[in-house]
Amino acid sequence: MFHKSVLITGAGSGIGKACALRMAKEGYNVVVADINMSTAAEVVKEITDDGNAAIAVFMDVTSETSVEVGFDTMMETYGSCDLVMSNAGIQIVHPFEEYPFEDWRKMMAIHADGAFLVARAAYRRMKASGKGGRIVFTGSVQSFVGSKLKEPYNFAKHGVAGLAKSIAREGAEHGIYTYTICPSFIKTPLVEKQIPEQAQSLGITEEEVVKNIMLRDTVDGEFTTVEDVANTLAFLANDQGALTGQSLRLTHGWAMM
Ligand SMILES: NC(=O)c1ccc[n+]([C@@H]2O[C@H](COP(=O)([O-])OP(=O)(O)OC[C@H]3O[C@@H](n4cnc5c(N)ncnc54)[C@H](O)[C@@H]3O)[C@@H](O)[C@H]2O)c1
Repeated sequence: MFHKSVLITGAGSGIGKACALRMAKEGYNVVVADINMSTAAEVVKEITDDGNAAIAVFMDVTSETSVEVGFDTMMETYGSCDLVMSNAGIQIVHPFEEYPFEDWRKMMAIHADGAFLVARAAYRRMKASGKGGRIVFTGSVQSFVGSKLKEPYNFAKHGVAGLAKSIAREGAEHGIYTYTICPSFIKTPLVEKQIPEQAQSLGITEEEVVKNIMLRDTVDGEFTTVEDVANTLAFLANDQGALTGQSLRLTHGWAMM
């Protein structure tokens, strides 16, 4: 019988939700970790209505205690920690010279502290189990390029790809593999919110934000989708280390290597 378990942060919405639904179909016990317990509970209901196993766990990725308690709950419930996706994120855009330090700190707390705390909690349990595991970060095309109004986001998303590389080196002897999935724009609540905000900050229309900023550098003018990310996660869940430390670009040709 298949007994693997996955924990996904920010799984109450968008990319994390799609990945949670997909990994449940792949046979994983799913821990839906989020600060929003009502959306997390809806995702759990969708999974369990389908006959698969899931629990919702409150997890604020900026809090060491909250992260550790969430992982303890995973171990108590399912007894293993095989796959973890550090995915929770927010976006705050401002022109650089006006960017409030308070908002920079908020971005660092979620994207940088969060990635560290979640990956470390996963690593500890994967190493202790003697079975290893896989840690996947949600990076972004912004792990490779710069974008107006997004200095903290760019900083953190570049950093996450580096964090994955270092953990890959240290984790290899314990069978712990790491990856960064780097999508271009996907229409989730995080992006829907940015369209009017960017239009206002840059003095252009919402249509221009989508066409001339979000999709301009793709080869086909297409958004990436949450299913693209879920497919990639399912694929990486079976990697035997050949891809460890790598960043995978799901960008419709934007920032291709
Ligand atoms: N949507 C895109 O175009 C896109 C592209 C590349 C990368 N990303 C990244 O993908 C990840 C998910 O984004 P999304 O588009 O699905 O966003 P979303 O807004 O749909 O979902 C984000 C989830 O994170 C949760 N969250 C926020 N703060 C949290 C915290 N402190 N602790 C735990 N959970 C918290 C929210 O409650 C929400 O459920 C983010 O890291 C984002 O930067 C998004």
